[in-house]
Amino acid sequence: MSTKAGNIKVVLGADHGGYHLKNALLDYMLRFGYDVIDVGAFNDEPTDYPDYAKLVAEKIRSAEAEKGVLICGSGVGASIAANKFKGIRASVCHDTYSARQGVEDDDMNVLCLGARVVGEELAKEIVKAFLCARFKGLERYKRRLKKIKEFEENG
Ligand code: RB5
Repeated sequence: MSTKAGNIKVVLGADHGGYHLKNALLDYMLRFGYDVIDVGAFNDEPTDYPDYAKLVAEKIRSAEAEKGVLICGSGVGASIAANKFKGIRASVCHDTYSARQGVEDDDMNVLCLGARVVGEELAKEIVKAFLCARFKGLERYKRRLKKIKEFEENG
């Protein structure tokens, strides 16, 4: 599998729990030529994951980035927070199958990782699967996403 799919821009964020993994993934993505916006955290002092979910979501909603990688201790808080923003389709994926299929079928645009759950090398493989995947755009996939968008609009 190629390690790069087009010139996509990626936004990367993490709370203190994900800070060290974020740095490792930043190096990894830059090495493969991705254009990465790092929104912090920039140290491992205690912070709040919703703040980074917001920063990541904003970059995607403004089209400054196409995909986001968001890290906290478990990935769970990051995912809950990111999904509160319109247009964000975030999920925790700790395996490469979900990371790829989540994009191909569900147009996932934010990958959430738990730095206390996955090791660095697996996280790199998961990120690679996420970044290289493309939404397949089948009618049934679009139909399902339209239903989710209606939830987003109408509650
Ligand atoms: C912070 O200690 C931790 O709660 C956070 O990183 C994350 O795991 C939340 O889901």
